[in-house]
Amino acid sequence: MAGPGFRGHPAGRLLLLLPLPQALTEGPLVFVAVVFRHGDRAPLASYPTDPHKEAVSTLWPRGLGQLTREGVCQQLELGRFLRSRYEDFLSPEYRREEVYILSTDFDRTLESAQANLAGLFPEAAPGRSEATWRPIPVHTVPVTEDKLLRFPTRSCPRYQELLREATEAAEYQTALEGWTNFLTHLENFTGLSLVGEPLRRAWKVLDTLICQQAHGLPLPSWASPDVLQTLAQISALDIGAHAGPPGAAEKAQMSGGILLDAILANFSRVQHLGLPLKMVMYSAHNSARLALQAALGLYDGHTPPYAACLGFEFRRRLGDPDDDAGNVTISLFYRNDSAGLPLTLGLPGCPAACPLGCFRQLTAPARPPAHWVPCHGFYEPTTPTATVVPLLAGAVAVLAALSMGLGLLACRAGCLRDRRCPV
Ligand SMILES: *[C@@H]1O[C@H](CO)[C@@H](O)[C@H](O)[C@H]1NC(C)=O
Ligand SMILES: *[C@@H]1O[C@H](CO)[C@@H](O)[C@H](O)[C@H]1NC(C)=O
Ligand SMILES: *[C@@H]1O[C@H](CO)[C@@H](O)[C@H](O)[C@H]1NC(C)=O
Ligand SMILES: *[C@@H]1O[C@H](CO)[C@@H](O)[C@H](O)[C@H]1NC(C)=O
Repeated sequence: MAGPGFRGHPAGRLLLLLPLPQALTEGPLVFVAVVFRHGDRAPLASYPTDPHKEAVSTLWPRGLGQLTREGVCQQLELGRFLRSRYEDFLSPEYRREEVYILSTDFDRTLESAQANLAGLFPEAAPGRSEATWRPIPVHTVPVTEDKLLRFPTRSCPRYQELLREATEAAEYQTALEGWTNFLTHLENFTGLSLVGEPLRRAWKVLDTLICQQAHGLPLPSWASPDVLQTLAQISALDIGAHAGPPGAAEKAQMSGGILLDAILANFSRVQHLGLPLKMVMYSAHNSARLALQAALGLYDGHTPPYAACLGFEFRRRLGDPDDDAGNVTISLFYRNDSAGLPLTLGLPGCPAACPLGCFRQLTAPARPPAHWVPCHGFYEPTTPTATVVPLLAGAVAVLAALSMGLGLLACRAGCLRDRRCPV
C-alpha cells in the first residue's frame, strides 16, 4: 500500500526482517522498553451519508473512538505474549520498582494498558479469585503536557514550515492533481466537504470504512476495494508529507525522536543509578509508534494493526566488559501479527543486535538536540492550550517517515568505521 509519497523508497530494502528464535540473540537481557498501539476501536467519526450512522450507539455501545471487546482481547493476548517472552526476566508478580507503565490520556490507551497488564501479571488476570486479585497502576499525563507520546506539531511553526515544503513539492502536487476527480466523487458519495484538509478528511473516511468492515458491517456500494486502496494511497501521501523528506530528521526531533530519546535516557539512568527498573511500557497511538519507527528509519509504508508492538531489548554483550557503551546491544522487535514470531528489525547500518554506542550515533540526527526540544510544549506562549488539544485528539496515522531523509545513511559510514560496530 505504498502510495506515491513512497515511490522508489528504499526502506523496504533496508529493513531486515528476520524472525529469529530468541536463543540466537546475544547475552542476558538487562532492560526492555515496549511501545504498543491500543487495541481494536470504534471508528473516530461518521460521515453524513454513512448507512450505519443511526446505529452508532448499538454498534459501538461505548462510543466512537473507544476500545472494543476485540481490542480488550488483543491487549490481553499481547500481555500474555510479553509474559511468555519475559518469563525469566520479570518477577512472577508485579513489582513497582521493576515495571513502569505510561499511557496517553485517552480512554482507549488507558484501557489497553490495563488489559495488557491483566495478561502480563497473574494477580491482575481475569477470573482471578477476589482474595488474590490486584490491579496494576498505569501512569498518564494530561494531553497538553504529554511530551512523549503526543506531538504539538500543529502548533509548531517550524514543523508547519517543513510540512508546507513537502506539500508544495512537485511530486506531492502531481499526486494530488491525479486524485482531484476521485476526491470530488468522494465528497459526493460521503456528503462530506473535503475542502481545506482533503487528505486528512479522506483518511477519516477510510478509518470509518475500515472499522466497519473489520466488524463485518456491509459497506456502501461506492466503497469498492479500489476506492479503499486509493484512500490508502492518499493517506500514505499524507503520512509521507508529515514525516518524510524534506527535513525528515528535523520532523523526527519534534515527534518520534523524543520518545526514542526518553527510552535511551531511561536505560542510562537505570545503568548509572543502578536502579532495579527492568521494563517501561508505553501505551500509545499509531502516530507515536509510526513516528518512533520513522525516527529509527524503519517506517515501511504499512499501516500497523491494532495492538502492534515495537520492543527495544537491551542486552549485555558477553566477553567485552571494558568496552564502555559497547558492552550493551539493542535489538528491536516488531510484533504486528499474533499468529507468528515477532519480526526482528535491524537499524539501517547496524547489525540486528546493535551496539548501544552505534545505536546512539545512528539515531542522533533524529533525536532532539541536548537540552532543547524544538517546539516542545508551548512553543508560542500566546497559543491557548485549548486549541492544541482537539487538533491532536483524533490523530492516528499522521506520522511516519522515510529512512533516507533521516541522515542515517550519512551516519552509517562513520559508524561502520567504528570497531564496535561490526558489519
Ligand atoms: C451526488 O451527486 C448526485 C448527482 O449529481 C446528486 O443527486 C446527489 O445528491 C449527490 N449526493 C450528495 C451526498 O451530495
Ligand atoms: C523513564 O521514562 C519515563 C518517561 O519519560 C519517566 O516517567 C520515568 O521516570 C523514567 N524512569 C527512569 C528510571 O528513568
Ligand atoms: C557496561 O559497562 C559500564 C562501564 O564499563 C558499566 O558501568 C555498566 O554497568 C555495564 N553495563 C552492563 C549492562 O553490563
Ligand atoms: C507486519 O509487518 C511486516 C513488515 O513491515 C509486513 O510485511 C507484514 O505484512 C505485516 N503483517 C501484518 C499482519 O500487518
